[in-house]
Amino acid sequence: MSADDKKEIEKLRQEIRRHDILYYVEDQPEITDREYDRILQKIIDWEKEHPDYIPADSPTQRVGGKVSERFTGVAHKTAMLSLDNTYNLDEFRDFHNRVLKGLNKDQSEEKQLSDKDVEYVVELKIDGLGVNLTYENGLFVQGATRGDGIIGEDITANLRTIRSIPLNIPMENESFNFLEVRGEVYLDHKAFLKINEERKSEGQAEFANPRNAAAGSLRLLDPAITARRPLDIFIYSVGFMDHVPFKTHYDSIQKLKALGLRTNPQTVLCANFEETFKLIESWREKKETLPYEVDGLVVKVNSLDYHERLGSTARHPRWAVAYKYEAEQVVTEIEDIICQVGRTGSITPVALLRPVLVSGSTVSRATLHNEDEIKRKDVRVGDTVVIEKAGEVIPKVVRVANEAGKSRNRPFKMPKTCPECETEIFRPEGEVAWRCVNAACPAQVKERLLHFASRKAMDIDHLGPAVLDQLVDGGRVRHFSDLYTLKLEDLVGLERLAEKSAQNLIDSIEKSKSAGLTRLLHALGIRHVGQRAGAILAQNFHSMDALQNASFEDLEQVGEIGPIMAESLRAFFDQEANQEEIKYLREQDVVLEEECQATSDRLQGKQFVLTGTLKDFSRDQAKEKILSLGGRVTSSVSRKTDYVVAGADPGSKRDKAEKLGVEILTEDQLKSLLEE
Ligand code: IVH
Repeated sequence: MSADDKKEIEKLRQEIRRHDILYYVEDQPEITDREYDRILQKIIDWEKEHPDYIPADSPTQRVGGKVSERFTGVAHKTAMLSLDNTYNLDEFRDFHNRVLKGLNKDQSEEKQLSDKDVEYVVELKIDGLGVNLTYENGLFVQGATRGDGIIGEDITANLRTIRSIPLNIPMENESFNFLEVRGEVYLDHKAFLKINEERKSEGQAEFANPRNAAAGSLRLLDPAITARRPLDIFIYSVGFMDHVPFKTHYDSIQKLKALGLRTNPQTVLCANFEETFKLIESWREKKETLPYEVDGLVVKVNSLDYHERLGSTARHPRWAVAYKYEAEQVVTEIEDIICQVGRTGSITPVALLRPVLVSGSTVSRATLHNEDEIKRKDVRVGDTVVIEKAGEVIPKVVRVANEAGKSRNRPFKMPKTCPECETEIFRPEGEVAWRCVNAACPAQVKERLLHFASRKAMDIDHLGPAVLDQLVDGGRVRHFSDLYTLKLEDLVGLERLAEKSAQNLIDSIEKSKSAGLTRLLHALGIRHVGQRAGAILAQNFHSMDALQNASFEDLEQVGEIGPIMAESLRAFFDQEANQEEIKYLREQDVVLEEECQATSDRLQGKQFVLTGTLKDFSRDQAKEKILSLGGRVTSSVSRKTDYVVAGADPGSKRDKAEKLGVEILTEDQLKSLLEE
């Protein structure tokens, strides 16, 4: 590889960094996503060939890196303190008075400060996960959670996947070489709803709020999954630096912004107490219009000199405070507590409430999450409770609020058996949820079938819960494939199904046979395999057969399929019952292939690996062409590889091909194969 090559690739990296800032920080992209992906792919391809020349700040290092062990501990340079809370303007005035008192202590008469002399910065208090980012000589070297404030967890690999965190910042002309910044990682409302929808369709428990979803995403052991969550960050302060070139908090934020860090545009400098006070009031309603969740404001004294003079208690600084608007809470009564069985058998307790109006909608159910949560809050049937609903969040029971002397029922006990099939339920060690392990449990069967038929899966119209209940309870349908054996006479006579609707249902079922592999994979309810994964798998394997025969390694080789999903797929296909089910689906003429994007099947089943630089087309173009002729392209050479195409500077893949006796093609030979 020549020095020019290296220079060329560094130029591309630099270009991507610039576009990252334009897109993720300044919200002003200059190129389309597709153009962006093209540049990035060039870098990825080049780096695959030259694994020794991948600097830690390459844009490609945001995805797919692996955290090999549980997170390690990181001691913070300065403690990550939390904030004291205030809930109304009286309490906020108390805070301001403490600030004045602290600053005026031991000062001469003429230096006494009053209301008009203290500037405050007002910021949004983003509801996410606090993190600390360390930059050394401009390079992002470490990211950690807050942890207990003194020691956090090293989540560098996961933080690298967040596009608005620059992997390097231009510090060369600054007076400091070491910079720690603090910020809040969060998910906006849209992303939160989408993740929950996906989790639901994958049979996983939904997150209770955006904060949990963000924290859960960041602390995943597989950064490839984190990379798919649209996490974002707002940087809200300096944590530590070896030289501090500014005198106020507001200036520090401007500096961080100028360095390319994503600060919140709603940060406002107020000249005095009165202005601050007005600004706080103005956010009470306005905060509901933000696209992300905030749990109030943070008000910080502006002068850094004052920060020093005021100092901190063991837990919070004396120069900052949180201002919280309480979420709307109402009082109602718990009429019953029931348990629901999900598609994967998890059992969730739900409180049935006397209906009440809260935050504009009538609420008659609230999740109680799990057994531990019920015990912790000691919630019982008949209790008067305070419930709360904020933003997009599922209504929740905040606390019991019985009047004194009210007689109570016994504490709630989880049932010993599944409320649907009466199989004994169990709680796996280390998990909070109880589970029904009976795969034939009618509740699970119904949930699975409903998911199978849902709009984004096989899209079977007219197969609602009322009809399914009767078909499952009557023993007519247990497996997906049973749906395809239904005849009109099985349906007529069902309650709430007119003959015309019965015929429509039969037609919809028939039509769904050709839904294709992408939808079918999603519909099967394989853990961790949702819509998107279905599409990726179908694009790469084209048929259920190929997928069934794919090894863990074959699966993992596909970009975006991490080890967790690969394992889940293998576990699914290894089960005899699932193999049988696929066989039955085939017998019923359900399409198990993707209505091929391939224009021909001339290269059907042929597996290619591309290595080295091609002169007449890009890797992408070559790949597209091979796919369109029915072939497959993988990234590493194995005995299953049919051809290795070696361009200039082919690297170790060519050697491996030789060793394994895999046919090696030159670019010209590839061309004639494609043009044949
Ligand atoms: S300042 C010592 N500013 O709220 C200063 N915190 O209880 C402490 N947070 O753990 C933090 N938005 O994760 C600050 N604009 C903001 C914030 C913010 C959210 C979080 C942060 C911290 C918690 C404080």
